[in-house]
Amino acid sequence: MAIRINDTEVAVPDDPRVSLLDLLREQLHLTGTKVGCNQGACGACTVLIDGERVLSCLTLAIQADGRSVTTIEGLGSDADPHPLQTAFIEHDGFQCGYCTPGQICAAVAMLREIADCVPSYVTADLAARASLSPEEIRERMSGNLCRCGAHNGIVEAILQVAREEVI
Ligand code: FES
Ligand code: FES
Repeated sequence: MAIRINDTEVAVPDDPRVSLLDLLREQLHLTGTKVGCNQGACGACTVLIDGERVLSCLTLAIQADGRSVTTIEGLGSDADPHPLQTAFIEHDGFQCGYCTPGQICAAVAMLREIADCVPSYVTADLAARASLSPEEIRERMSGNLCRCGAHNGIVEAILQVAREEVI
């Protein structure tokens, strides 16, 4: 049993109670993924499984068996940052940075959801692809809280990347 994490095969923990968050942080030392509430309320622990966003604090590691997990370390690096990382810097999309890895992982998946015509609560026409409006982005990112209140910059950064169609 194995999980592919940022292109590396990792054994599923023997203990089935280990969360994906604890596997990433405590066992693999991938500390880019943050612990916030540890109960599904803040989004700080968001990672991607097969391209879809999940809360790693509410996901057992064993549930990722045979699947591909991407964390912030797998999206970009200092030398080769992801376009969203660059945009977050340009638009002041963070202050302390604690929520930022989760915000960026969530944004990557969220933009794919829009591209796949998945509607949100505020999408007017359920049969059409949602518009890239600030209202749509805010609604779709509402599961990721920022205690520093950087939400305006976060939305601007995501909109810039979405409009440049670099996702
Ligand atoms: Fe997982 Fe808050 S730490 S949602
Ligand atoms: Fe500090 Fe979001 S930048 S919590």
